[in-house]
Amino acid sequence: MRSAGIVGLGMYVPEKILTNFDLEKLVDTSDEWITTRTGIKERRVAAKHETTTTMAIEAAKAALDDANVPPSEVDLIIVATVTPDCFFPATACQVQHAIGAPNAAAFDLLVGCTGFVYGVVTACQFIQTGAAHCALVIGSETLTRIVDWTDRKTCVLFGDGAGAAVITPVPEGRGLLGFDLGSDGSGGSLLKVDALLATCQAPTAIDGYRRPTIFMNGNEVFKFAVRVMADSTLAALLRSGITLDQVDLIVPHQANIRIIDAAARRLGISMDKVFVNLEHYGNTSAASIPIALAEARESQRLKEGDVVVAVGFGAGLSWASFVMRW
Ligand code: ACO
Repeated sequence: MRSAGIVGLGMYVPEKILTNFDLEKLVDTSDEWITTRTGIKERRVAAKHETTTTMAIEAAKAALDDANVPPSEVDLIIVATVTPDCFFPATACQVQHAIGAPNAAAFDLLVGCTGFVYGVVTACQFIQTGAAHCALVIGSETLTRIVDWTDRKTCVLFGDGAGAAVITPVPEGRGLLGFDLGSDGSGGSLLKVDALLATCQAPTAIDGYRRPTIFMNGNEVFKFAVRVMADSTLAALLRSGITLDQVDLIVPHQANIRIIDAAARRLGISMDKVFVNLEHYGNTSAASIPIALAEARESQRLKEGDVVVAVGFGAGLSWASFVMRW
């Protein structure tokens, strides 16, 4: 099988910034609490005209520009999101039309915050087997539209944005070296947003419609996240034949600095090896890893030839990691 890897990255975040100080005016919280418990200082919030689809399109265009690939060459588009504009059509189909990629198969993938890593691994299988030649994998989210703005335990955590990667064949020894995908549905109720279920319940609001919002058992998700971030990284490295000390950079899902710190300690690695940008964006679910990869590359933390591990965890419960030589 031929090798497959990321050859272009792009991102898009809304202009509007919501700081911790802004949140102090909305709920009973403080910049001090949010900073020390999560590491987050601010997050982006989509304007009325910005949606999961529009942000996915912008990130996709940026990634194609970066890879210097015309949209007509794209033959596979995968969008990872938990906040699509519609149940159907798939966001990926709308992206396919908007960027002008008539030769692309397109579908969405829903694996919570883990979705982008699942998407990259899926796309690489298509490229490695020769079933596709140029794939776009996008993570895009408008989580601020599904948070309960009266729940201080969750509303301070999330933000909006999109990131995208172009995946093509790469020279042998480069690109995807190994991966680990997993799920444990027994923890599904720890982190969820009702969809149709919500409309089946007895009316709770005056208009009979309860807007579905994020429910999370933060403490349980925290423990799960620390465990799988370390374990999944090690599993993917083992399958890649790469040791931890050969890794140049780890790009984890950007949920909480304490999760990342604790997982790094569990792995016995220095935080110098870990890319963190959650202070600016909060948790953007499936968009967090591609945004972080794009910024890591932009800031020269990720360079050609480097070995990078991307590791995600989230609703499902689910986890995934890939090891790539850049
Ligand atoms: N401001 C002030 N106080 C708060 C806030 C807030 N925003 N939120 C909670 N508190 C209070 C609680 O009410 C509680 O008060 P009490 O002791 O009087 O009851 C106290 O702070 C401690 O609450 P905990 O929930 O125990 O706080 P913890 O240190 O665990 O931090 C947090 C909560 C940040 C949610 C943490 O559990 C966490 O990060 N969990 C993982 C969440 C996560 O990463 N989810 C995403 C992963 S998957 C995905 O990305 C979708």
